[in-house]
Amino acid sequence: MAAPFQFFQQIKEHVGTVAAQQRAAPAFEPVELMCNNRDACHAPPALGFISVLDYAFEYNAGLGPGMTDHWNAIRGHWKLLGPPLRPPTEAVETYHRELDLSEAHVVLLGVTPELAGLGATMMAVDESSDMIAGIWPGDTASRKAVKGDWLDLPVSDASVDAVIGDGCLSVLGLSTARRALFAAIARVLRPDGRAGLRLFAGPETPDDPAAVQALALSGGVSTFHELKLRVAMTATGRAPDHAIPVRTIAERFDALFPDRQELSARTGWDLPVIATIDVYRNSTAIYSFAPPAQLVAEAEAFFNDVRIAPTGGYGLAERCPLLVLRSPKV
Ligand SMILES: C[S@@+](CC[C@H](N)C(=O)[O-])C[C@H]1O[C@@H](n2cnc3c(N)ncnc32)[C@H](O)[C@@H]1O
Repeated sequence: MAAPFQFFQQIKEHVGTVAAQQRAAPAFEPVELMCNNRDACHAPPALGFISVLDYAFEYNAGLGPGMTDHWNAIRGHWKLLGPPLRPPTEAVETYHRELDLSEAHVVLLGVTPELAGLGATMMAVDESSDMIAGIWPGDTASRKAVKGDWLDLPVSDASVDAVIGDGCLSVLGLSTARRALFAAIARVLRPDGRAGLRLFAGPETPDDPAAVQALALSGGVSTFHELKLRVAMTATGRAPDHAIPVRTIAERFDALFPDRQELSARTGWDLPVIATIDVYRNSTAIYSFAPPAQLVAEAEAFFNDVRIAPTGGYGLAERCPLLVLRSPKV
């Protein structure tokens, strides 16, 4: 498809332009990355900072093929994942309650199996054919999955009752891409359409890593997947992106929890579950964990009615609300 390629080209051009401007006159704050070469992004500050935009430019991160490799690796251990990374029943019920999906023609962003039963009809869109083959519970008379790009949805304008997705904004590492997704959703929704995206939303001020370490070792974190998100949220860069390269999450985890046997003994988490973080190590993807207020502000450029709805009481649910979008601006 030509359009997504053009979009990635535009983002890369944008990234290149901003990065070049920063190098000339660094108006953009340096963020979490400290690189000494293409393969080592954990050097001490003396070796110099690069911004997340530089990282995206250098690695083509979060902008295409690197992302499908990342998801293919995660697919291999999908069954070991759990809440809050995967939506528990109470979160799935929130989509129903907030969006009134029983009669709706729904577009699902991704192939999240827990959401596959929602709506009267559903088309799931995912750029990874391996994720479709490995995770999607299967096409039926009322639902099908297609390979495609969320930023260029294979759907006519104003033709869809509801768009839903789980964690979608966090897997887009740049605020530019988040805004492109809001625009894509606004384009395909009917005037009375609605969208619900469960967020992985960071705090306004990143958490203290030592506090996250102490919380986990004292048994205060519900699942290892909650811990992965908490570790990531200690180390995000500044606004507007609030981004973190996925490999940096693994490095932060290693620094905070060098003894996995001890972590396992203190929490009861199985070592293979803890090892799910190891696929982050070679990833070129970028995640982002913008706070709810920023995501609401970004969405309000494309929707007249934007609200946040709680999704239950599971571990870290307070940072995983549903962003509900209505009344697209056209
Ligand atoms: C729905 S998201 C998040 C899933 C889950 N909640 C988590 O955090 O692990 C994961 C899916 O998004 C897909 N994906 C990411 N960016 C995409 C894009 N721009 N277009 C289409 N699919 C995309 C990936 O291939 C993957 O299957």
